[in-house]
Amino acid sequence: MRFPGVATVVGAGSGIGRATAILFVKRGCTKIAIGDVNVAGLAETKKLMLEVKGGIEVLDAECDVTSEESVNTFFTRTVAKFGRLDYCCNVAGMLIPGASTDLSAAQYDKQHSVNCRGMWLCQRAEITQMLKQDPIDTPDSAFQSRGAIANVASMAGLRGYDNLASYSSTKHAILGFTKCDAYGYASKLIRVNAVCPGVIATPMLGEIDPNDKTNIAEMTKDMAMGRQGQPEEVAEGLLWLCSSYASFVTGIGLPVNGGMVGA
Ligand SMILES: NC(=O)c1ccc[n+]([C@@H]2O[C@H](COP(=O)([O-])OP(=O)(O)OC[C@H]3O[C@@H](n4cnc5c(N)ncnc54)[C@H](O)[C@@H]3O)[C@@H](O)[C@H]2O)c1
Repeated sequence: MRFPGVATVVGAGSGIGRATAILFVKRGCTKIAIGDVNVAGLAETKKLMLEVKGGIEVLDAECDVTSEESVNTFFTRTVAKFGRLDYCCNVAGMLIPGASTDLSAAQYDKQHSVNCRGMWLCQRAEITQMLKQDPIDTPDSAFQSRGAIANVASMAGLRGYDNLASYSSTKHAILGFTKCDAYGYASKLIRVNAVCPGVIATPMLGEIDPNDKTNIAEMTKDMAMGRQGQPEEVAEGLLWLCSSYASFVTGIGLPVNGGMVGA
């Protein structure tokens, strides 16, 4: 799998985003922009990327997905440096657990601003640029591409959990705009997909109260493999969706979940 174009990963300061940025380097991509609100995490990710392969070009820039200006600036800077966008992974997210009666409207708004509106802002900026650029030949397919987007949704975008009302609604929404823009821009040679991870061992899991009824252990039990996934295993799904091996795949939410019962 080769990535001759330009990759972006927003939410690259930790967990799945960090693993995705590193995997792009391992798979031969040499022009990568990474963004996050966590600039210290971003610097660590860049260091790890350069340890994998020196000499690659990495743009690390603060990107707060709750800010339209910050998102647009991040992608403007990326295009100014690298000229185009080819493989865009939108990963940034947060988790505020709780059933609806436990949540404030402010918590609901915050979570939707990061997970849903923020990811849509990234996707809109990416498609806007992709429409301006010429398609390029792809290394592993006979067909040209103007760009590929891979969003991170969740199994909570495919099914309900009793204490994840707000989080789950953001992830259902991600699959909604993923599918709509996949169909809307397919004729322009732009693909848009998502992954739906199960329980993945990242810092985010620390935010689920272990005393909650739907806790991590319960959620992990729903996965046939009986273990939590690793961020690198989700990154593999994101890179496949961005790659030309997936040249005929658009508008899907790919489960990466160790076989989840009931989904
Ligand atoms: N860990 C899991 O079990 C799991 C399961 C399904 C889906 N997901 C999704 O995977 C994605 C990555 O989460 P993770 O598990 O790697 O957690 P994580 O906490 O390790 O990483 C989340 C990243 O998003 C960044 N972020 C948060 N708010 C931001 C903002 N306003 N602007 C820019 N960046 C921001 C954080 O700084 C962090 O680097 C999220 O969208 C999450 O919902 C995680």
